[in-house]
Amino acid sequence: MNKNRVICQCSNVTLGEVVNFIKKNDIQTLSQLVSEMEVGDKCESCKYKGFEEDGFSLSKAFSRVKSGEL
Ligand code: FES
Repeated sequence: MNKNRVICQCSNVTLGEVVNFIKKNDIQTLSQLVSEMEVGDKCESCKYKGFEEDGFSLSKAFSRVKSGEL
């Protein structure tokens, strides 16, 4: 997953910014990420399927951070 790619188009937030936010704030759930970072809370397409429907999503990013892959 490319950390420079925008993952939430509505909030103009990159994957790298999401990863850093999860780690820095010890985010424990996807819904906590959505409410505290204010990403994925507009059109919501980035939450599970990805804005471009290719799986580049907040849920995948979140699970990869928690598994130590990101
Ligand atoms: S792309 Fe993230 S809320 Fe629309």
